[in-house]
Amino acid sequence: MKGLVLAGGTGSRLRPITYSMAKQLVPIANKPIIEYGLEDLVEAGITDVGIVISPETGNAIREAVDRCADRIGFHPSFILQDVPRGLAHALMTALPFIDGDDCLMYLGDNLVKGGVADVVRDFQHDRPNCQIMLSPVDNPSAFGVADLAPDGSIRQLVEKPAVPPSNLALVGVYLFDATIAEAVHAIQPSRRGEYEITDAIQYQIEKGRDVRASIVSGWWKDTGTREDLLAAQHLVINEMSHEIEGELIDTEVRGSLHLGKGSQVIDSRIVGPVVIGDNVQILRSTIGPETSIGDESQVSDAIIESSIVMDRSGVHGWKIRSSLVGRGTRLHGAAPAAFVSIMLGEQSEILGE
Ligand code: TTP
Repeated sequence: MKGLVLAGGTGSRLRPITYSMAKQLVPIANKPIIEYGLEDLVEAGITDVGIVISPETGNAIREAVDRCADRIGFHPSFILQDVPRGLAHALMTALPFIDGDDCLMYLGDNLVKGGVADVVRDFQHDRPNCQIMLSPVDNPSAFGVADLAPDGSIRQLVEKPAVPPSNLALVGVYLFDATIAEAVHAIQPSRRGEYEITDAIQYQIEKGRDVRASIVSGWWKDTGTREDLLAAQHLVINEMSHEIEGELIDTEVRGSLHLGKGSQVIDSRIVGPVVIGDNVQILRSTIGPETSIGDESQVSDAIIESSIVMDRSGVHGWKIRSSLVGRGTRLHGAAPAAFVSIMLGEQSEILGE
């Protein structure tokens, strides 16, 4: 079975972060989102992996994937999708790579607790034409949604329905056999102009092919927005263990802390769960809960809660909450008295008055 990880798209809901970086590379607990999916594939025994990339962020994705491929244990092939015309279009673009094999398609901005090994095993055992995974959500109108018959078979799939037939959203993991090629070629663009994967699967259902659904047992997160990213980090970070490689000086720690090599936390308070990367300096600050601070960042006289602060950033004197601070970005100067909640792209600078 081949793996196909979709890492193109526009990421418009995550601007301004996605003006300067691919959303699949945003770190969750200091690890790029895409790595979680790649690890899931390898754990399920899939090591031949195609990565769909866009012209805009393709090089950055390629570098990040090449950096982790040996460590995780897969062989990447990169597939350029010239325009983001939908998930089924990405699959269509990748058909020469799939070359008639079975394929597991994984959206590069999704996180699935518990991985995909079980669903891969079921697929290989039962050999349906298509296997999807579903998860109950609060806002089904934002997703592809399944309408199931009382016996659990799929009656219909609809993309972002105004009136959802159920609360069961399609998780960004799909397994296909070779018959999917006919389906992606048969469908037309939807009202929003995209080739929808839900339409391709619906085509399979209407052709009488064997399409199965299973409900995911753990959580699942699609990280299209800032709230989703922070919620994903919340879930991941809460399961991390306590590990101290750096130095804690006059610092009180509650809850779990992951402190990287060469990092120092001085005269501060850590309210875990917190992840701090390598070579980070934290002085007279309160960090956490549910916060990650990227490598080589500097924090002083600050309070940072429920946030993602990426590599080489600086937060000095500010109180931030539910924020996303891009790589190499600095917040300093006279800060506002109250907490702020912000989303900043790479290499920016905010100087308080
Ligand atoms: P989406 O989140 O559905 O789309 P998007 O990345 O364009 O984001 P937004 O809606 O905020 O503009 O994409 C899910 C995943 O699939 C994501 O990793 C990007 C990838 N993708 C492609 O590779 N090609 C595509 O044509 C599309 C639409 C998405």
